[in-house]
Amino acid sequence: MDLNSLKKTLEAHGQSQLLEGLSDSRFCDDCRAEYLKKLAAIDYDLTARLYRQAAAPAGNETPEGAGEITPIPVTDSAKLTPEQRRQYIAAGEAIIARGEFAAVTMAGGQGTRLGHNGPKGTFDIGVAEHSLFEIQACRLLRRAALSAGGRQIPWYIMTSEENDAATREFFAAHKYFGYDPANVRFFTQFMLPMVAFDGKIVRDGPLSVKMGADGHGGIFRAMHAHGITADMKARGVKYVFIGGIDNVLVKLCDPLFIGFTAACGTPCAGKSLIKRDPYEKAGVFCLKNGRPSVIEYTEISKEMAEARDARGEFVYGDAHILCNMFTVDALDNAGSEGLPYHVAVKKTKYIDDGGQLTEPSAPNAYKFEAFIFDAFSRAESMGILRVRREDEFAPVKNREGEDSPNTARALYVSARERGALD
Ligand code: UTP
Repeated sequence: MDLNSLKKTLEAHGQSQLLEGLSDSRFCDDCRAEYLKKLAAIDYDLTARLYRQAAAPAGNETPEGAGEITPIPVTDSAKLTPEQRRQYIAAGEAIIARGEFAAVTMAGGQGTRLGHNGPKGTFDIGVAEHSLFEIQACRLLRRAALSAGGRQIPWYIMTSEENDAATREFFAAHKYFGYDPANVRFFTQFMLPMVAFDGKIVRDGPLSVKMGADGHGGIFRAMHAHGITADMKARGVKYVFIGGIDNVLVKLCDPLFIGFTAACGTPCAGKSLIKRDPYEKAGVFCLKNGRPSVIEYTEISKEMAEARDARGEFVYGDAHILCNMFTVDALDNAGSEGLPYHVAVKKTKYIDDGGQLTEPSAPNAYKFEAFIFDAFSRAESMGILRVRREDEFAPVKNREGEDSPNTARALYVSARERGALD
């Protein structure tokens, strides 16, 4: 887009402030050109639509609006018969051995709560594996040795523009933790501009727009755009696990879950665990208008959160833990269509009218994020496998207290002592 067209586009969208001060002699031509290139890459129609959604009176509701919520059937792994368990595991092992399985780690988040300087995956919780990336690499390599005669499991890692270079450097510096680099592929998720409450796109520097990663649900679009699903298909992959970087107990390659997914025959499947208490800050699986869905803890009513059935179990108690399986075809479909965006209200530094970088004392801008679980409702049904919290869930979210490196380390060490890390 040439400068004139860009000017017109910005004017039409009320965003001309982004060009203010551009002719200042402090800026070199290359810096100016780089900035204009970034401005030209922004989708202003989409940004305007998202702002209208955010600023509407019910701005923080789900983009799809309300729906009828009902319970969803769940398979409790603890209640499988020995024969069922054996069959699922055998089917999963066969899929891994045939090279039909790949794992994806979502590592594009900002990790703001942890406050670590660098990609979250480079964080060391104080165990023998010195980073969250190393924990996952070792686990995948162990599983490859157990299930695939050492043939490595293709591993895809989603980064963001902010942490991509640092992530790649970290892998190179640590010799890919024993992985063959040919079996590891990084891809970057998309970014969206943050928008101030008055609708203006935020500038966080004289030649810089404040961009934010488009949420873990951005993974489908990113995989599609970067040829990741095509790469998977070329390798013969049929089932793909997608998990986060910050759960130190995540089973990236779990034969039981793979076999369970294949037996369900659904385009996706998810793992769940029972909420600690009715108010645990986790989304829960449900049916929304008859389709698989996850209802966020901020959206569930007190009555629903507390509801119990005749056996005393939570009616909506199966928490979504970002451990999901998709068929490659389901990934492709979600990637070509994209997902709706949700709105988060954030505090972010901005360039004020006087040209000064200002730190606000209260939230001042909207950030737009897609959620991976919004893809579930594309399927008529999905398998959900309830697992044991102590074996599969130890997130590193906060610097201290709950879900912190200390709690994750204790759970990791305990799982290792019980032999639960394969
Ligand atoms: P969270 O939603 O907990 O975010 O991500 P976060 O970035 O780790 O931490 P905060 O909220 O800024 O403190 C859960 C998982 O999803 C990934 C994260 O890397 C993490 O593995 N994620 C999240 C992405 O890959 N991209 C995103 O845009 C958001």
